[in-house]
Amino acid sequence: MAKHDLDSNYLDPNYEPVVNHSGNTPFADVLASRMQRRTVMKGSVGAALAGFMGFSLTGCGSDSNDSGSDLGGNTETPPVDTTLGFQAVPVSSANEVVVPEGYVSEAFLPWGTPITGSYPEYRPDGTNTGAEQEQQVGMHHDGMHFYPIDQKSGGNSSEEGLLVMNHEYINQGALHANGPTRAADNGGVRPADEVRKEIAAHGVSVVHIKKDSEGKWDVVFGSRYNRRITGATPMDIRGPVRGYHKLVTPYSLNATETRGTLNNCAMGTSPWGTYLTAEENWHGYFAHDNDAAVRPREYVRHNVSGSSRYDWEKADSALDQYQRFDVTPQEGGSAETDYRFEANTFGYMVEIDPFTPESKPQKRTALGRFGHEGVIFAPAKEGEPVVCYSGDDSQFEYIYKFVSAKPYYAATADGSLLDEGTLYVARFNDDGSGEWLALSLDDAGFAAKVSAAEGEEVGRSGILFDGFENQADVLVNTRLAADIAGATPMDRPEWGAIDPNTGEVYFTLTNNSRRTEDEVDAANPIVRNRNGHIIRWQEAGNEFTATEFEWDIFVFAGEQGTETVVGDEAVVTLDDTNIFNSPDGLWFDYNGRLWIQTDGYSNETFGNQMMLAADPVTRDIRRFFVGPQGCEVTGVVTTPDSATMFVNIQHPRNNWPNAAEDRPRDATVIVTRSDGGVIGV
Ligand code: FEO
Ligand code: CA
Ligand code: CA
Ligand code: CA
Repeated sequence: MAKHDLDSNYLDPNYEPVVNHSGNTPFADVLASRMQRRTVMKGSVGAALAGFMGFSLTGCGSDSNDSGSDLGGNTETPPVDTTLGFQAVPVSSANEVVVPEGYVSEAFLPWGTPITGSYPEYRPDGTNTGAEQEQQVGMHHDGMHFYPIDQKSGGNSSEEGLLVMNHEYINQGALHANGPTRAADNGGVRPADEVRKEIAAHGVSVVHIKKDSEGKWDVVFGSRYNRRITGATPMDIRGPVRGYHKLVTPYSLNATETRGTLNNCAMGTSPWGTYLTAEENWHGYFAHDNDAAVRPREYVRHNVSGSSRYDWEKADSALDQYQRFDVTPQEGGSAETDYRFEANTFGYMVEIDPFTPESKPQKRTALGRFGHEGVIFAPAKEGEPVVCYSGDDSQFEYIYKFVSAKPYYAATADGSLLDEGTLYVARFNDDGSGEWLALSLDDAGFAAKVSAAEGEEVGRSGILFDGFENQADVLVNTRLAADIAGATPMDRPEWGAIDPNTGEVYFTLTNNSRRTEDEVDAANPIVRNRNGHIIRWQEAGNEFTATEFEWDIFVFAGEQGTETVVGDEAVVTLDDTNIFNSPDGLWFDYNGRLWIQTDGYSNETFGNQMMLAADPVTRDIRRFFVGPQGCEVTGVVTTPDSATMFVNIQHPRNNWPNAAEDRPRDATVIVTRSDGGVIGV
């Protein structure tokens, strides 16, 4: 039984107050006063927000259950109803998808579904070739978005669209007929076609789908939009890092191109209708001989070291397509002759235009290089900068915000807006305030910290800092720059989501088993945080470009009885309808309900991984969906009418979704209401 209490009166024998870094005020006292202030804010928040940027107002920020009463008729917009209308489903350990009474689910687009080219049929014995996999849906479905087919012409189709999804990584055992051939058992090499197939099972799928007259969704055969982007697809480097010498490879002597995107976890969708796919744990794909040379800081800070996860560099082929995964400098070589810098071409957000199938994916380096989980765009405003947020999912890493230099105009907006701007990193102060710290050499505060750090060991990694050459160097070393700026190390930031009704930004902090008692802070207050929590903030003045914000914790995950307390009141007490651990996927639907997906541990208490819905106003949280055995539940979107929901199942362990087949297949699950109504209501 965990009680994660923000109340200073809570007495836990294991709880030791921490003195904040200024040495002035005990941590618990600061928290108590912060929460009191928030409570005081309750009555006036509606009025305070009424002037802000055309969001429709609900009982925004209110902690009371009677949504709307705070507004007292001061606004013309009636509160949006975000209450939940379904009965929570119990935890489940069955090898099937569970949805509430009145809902149905069906697996769709499993790994191996043919979508392009010659539409090669999926063979359940694992014998599809690498070339065939390049024309089939990849493995390990993750972030996903539905683009109405008529979106470009202002339409809103819920019958036909482009479903775009990430394929984060692979199950080698399921991918090949008899599992992978290990280099160690095969004279030090791997069969090139196995490697080709593994690279092809990564990346992104763009699938043109359409509902038939019976309401059944299917792939539009032969559509020009159907597309696979893989770990081998040519891509451009864009933004400040384009042309930087630390990205020179034999493939791109002028450091403007690379091949492939890898470990694509979550995503984002831009205000101009493109898809941004995140490169998360890309570091594991590269081998670097630790003894051969001192590893550059660009690799040390990301742990590019030792052997690679899948030994792709050991393909029994002379193709540099495979050899590039060994980033060890060759003796007598240079960046022009070996792939020492290949791993510097990964770690970005990659923009894909699903409506332009011939378009080349663009790595948007101004958004920083780190373990990007995904990206979430603030609602675009005509004539204002574009703002987006991205978390770095690793223990003690950071949350970032990008603000474009140029203003957004709907008529002309495109990805070039993401090539110029300021990258900020978040500092969460213990008093509930927060700051965005610019990672720009043009920022006097940051430049001074950089100067002061020269010759010092920086951050937890203890890298001896010898300066930045220029802004491209800052961005290639985003984590190091954030260390120097003094960002707050978080409990593994995963997805973000923005409340369409209030503008509050939510982020999941999935867990952090390594946080010690000496390392807790108000935003990450749990020692060895096994279950995770969800943080949220509101930008000052509700302007997404602001450099200050106010934050609080939306909910602590955990077992039954886990409380989230504001003032004296437990605003959430988890029970059997909503216990969960390790929140990961997060999405506000088009009506303002929050969907929380989990990627954590399964046991008798929690059962399989799940998805819950939350009313952000009342913090009513209910379990909506439980996945099959061994999976994580990740990626969720609906059609614009909110009547069809797509949910991804990643790395199911057993023979799901087809019990008659002997290998698992990652798949999308389509959830609908039997009466065709709005999901969640
Ligand atoms: Fe791929 Fe951070 O989950
Ligand atoms: Ca995953
Ligand atoms: Ca994730
Ligand atoms: Ca995760």
